[in-house]
Amino acid sequence: MKLIDDLKEILITEEQIDSACLSLAKEITNDYKDIELPIFLGILKGCHPFMTDLLRHIDFYHQVDYMSVSSYFGGTKSTNEVKIVKDMTLEVKDRDIVIVEDIVESGRTIKEVKDLLMFRGAKTVEIVSMIDKPTGREVDLMPKYKGYTLGLNFLIGYGLDYNEMYRNIRVIGIPKDEIIKGDK
Ligand code: IMP
Ligand code: MG
Repeated sequence: MKLIDDLKEILITEEQIDSACLSLAKEITNDYKDIELPIFLGILKGCHPFMTDLLRHIDFYHQVDYMSVSSYFGGTKSTNEVKIVKDMTLEVKDRDIVIVEDIVESGRTIKEVKDLLMFRGAKTVEIVSMIDKPTGREVDLMPKYKGYTLGLNFLIGYGLDYNEMYRNIRVIGIPKDEIIKGDK
C-alpha cells in the first residue's frame, strides 16, 4: 500500500515539479534581486513543499513568513468564506511581498490575503503558485509567476490535500474516485 496508489492519474511528475521550482526561482531572482529584503509569504498549509523547494534556489537576501488561511474545510469543494486562521508576524508596511501558494482556483483566498496586505501598506504584492486553475477563477486576479496551468480536476499531492492527507507526495495528480466518494 502506497499513498501514490490512491492516484488515478499523475498530471505533474517530480521532474516537472523540480524544473518548475528552478525556473520560477530564476524568474523571481531576475525581478527581485535588486529589491531590498522582499518577504516570501507562504500560505499554509499547502505551500510547504513548494516554499522549501523554491527557496532552495533563491540566493538573495529575503525574509520568510507564513499565514494560515482556510477556505476548503476538508472536502473537495471550495466555500465562499475565507478565514485568516494564523496571521503573519512581520510588519508589511512599505515591503515587497511575494505570496507563495500551492494552487489558485477561484482566486478568492489569495485576493483576500492580497487586499489585506495592501490595506496594511505593503508596497507591492505578487503571487507565485505552482498550479493555476484559471477556468475556476471568480475574481480578477492572476498569479504573476506560475508553474503549470491545469483544468478543473480536484488534485492532490505536493502540498495539495484531501482531508489533510497526501500533502507529502512528490507528484500532483487526480485521486481515484473511491478515495473522495461522498464528497462528489
Ligand atoms: P481558491 O480560493 O479557490 O483560489 O482556492 C485556493 C485554495 O483552495 C488553495 O490554497 C488550496 O488550499 C485549495 N484548493 C484549490 N483547488 C484545490 C485542489 O484541486 N486540491 C486541493 N486543494 C485545492
Ligand atoms: Mg492552499
